[in-house]
Amino acid sequence: MQAVYISNAQIATSREVFEGSLLVRDGKIAAVLRAGETPPDLDGIKVIDAGGCYLLPGGVDPHTHFDLDVGFTRASDDFYTGTVAAACGGTTTVIDHMAFGPKGCPLPHQSAVYHKLAAQQGPVIDYGFHGVIQHVDDEVLASMKTLRDEEGLSSFKIYLTYDFKIDDYGVLKVLERANELGLTICVHCENDATINTLRAQYVADGHTEAKYHALSRPAEAEAEAVYRMLMLGKIAGEAKVYIVHLSTRLGLEALRLVRRTGQKNILVETCPQYLFLDDSRYNDPQAGLKYIMSPPLRKQPDIDSMWDGLTANDIQTIGTDHCPFFFDTQKQRGANDFTQCPNGAPGVELRMPLMFSEGFMKGRLSLPQVVDSCCTRPAEIFGIAPQKGIIAPGADADLVLFDPSVKWTVTKDQLHENVDYTPYEGIELTGRPVWTMARGEVIVDNGVFKGQKGSGKYLKRNI
Ligand code: URP
Ligand code: ZN
Ligand code: ZN
Repeated sequence: MQAVYISNAQIATSREVFEGSLLVRDGKIAAVLRAGETPPDLDGIKVIDAGGCYLLPGGVDPHTHFDLDVGFTRASDDFYTGTVAAACGGTTTVIDHMAFGPKGCPLPHQSAVYHKLAAQQGPVIDYGFHGVIQHVDDEVLASMKTLRDEEGLSSFKIYLTYDFKIDDYGVLKVLERANELGLTICVHCENDATINTLRAQYVADGHTEAKYHALSRPAEAEAEAVYRMLMLGKIAGEAKVYIVHLSTRLGLEALRLVRRTGQKNILVETCPQYLFLDDSRYNDPQAGLKYIMSPPLRKQPDIDSMWDGLTANDIQTIGTDHCPFFFDTQKQRGANDFTQCPNGAPGVELRMPLMFSEGFMKGRLSLPQVVDSCCTRPAEIFGIAPQKGIIAPGADADLVLFDPSVKWTVTKDQLHENVDYTPYEGIELTGRPVWTMARGEVIVDNGVFKGQKGSGKYLKRNI
């Protein structure tokens, strides 16, 4: 592999932005030079002039659902199409959340399924998996260690709602075990009884349009579950708890309250949909199906508080919860009854452009804050740092170059996600990825994917 020298860049890390150049050799960052430092001998080295554009670590998306099996259908992006889309948007690593397996299946079951899926589909960027715990018994608790040691699964997800929800007894056992093993437990926080009660009432009253999906999952249901989970984390000896897809002001206030008691080991993720889209999207019963996801879209004060949480570092990461279903076909299952609609929406391709434009360029966040939440912190929390998520000698040469002078309007036809809509249609963005490099290879150049199917490697993660 030819060495590459990327010169004349504005290099952005989670700490600072500085003018400089990078030497990439054998897929790794070999040297970081600040402006004025003597460049290496460039004989035989390919030079890429970054032209003053911003060079960021490739994005690390800690929350995708490629090819998610929801029983009656599957998420429409697989490990190939989904990772191509990710790469086109400047993301070079994903950590995918496994689907539930058959009832009662042992913990390694889904891990085996996912290794096979990825091997068959050919991801183009490096990837890892979060394990999924769908019931709790001694065998499951024992397998957490086996999967940590043998497969590098350093995080597992539990759900407090849906069919395979874990009750408080199970949550405590999982958290205690995670604490012993140094694992991180990701949690989907929504109060199950609230959702089931409200859903049943709405359906009984004939209220089956998309907006009742949101009304049956109120902010209080999220905040209650967040608070309970964090308290159980404390009771379990301050286990490492990672709240996925936080969406409400009430939820954020609940965790701020817990943090004020001195509790550490609380990690929080939000997603672009909770930063950019509000619940008025449900007003049109047809188009509203596009936004049926859990948690649902929220109100402007919730959106404002997610931005505030990022600014204040109360929220550590931005994941996408990318889980697309075709509007014209798959989502239509919910046309007469929101409870039948597959939950989820696309986002993996736009996370970095949205955050670069609406976070950094609009002045809501500094560029280091964007890098931290989209690249560095997800890599650190999930055990793939310092290989991923940073620009430093020895790290993988996973990089994205953003041109801040390009203004563009998001339309579905420019995107690579395998789905027939984007929730961000019509949003005007400033700044666009020029190219994306994965382990030293430019795999996307001016929006054109040039990489190799199957070039992504499985990441065994550390605790
Ligand atoms: O609606 C969503 N988010 N679907 C994916 C599964 C989950 O809850 O993360
Ligand atoms: Zn979830
Ligand atoms: Zn999810």
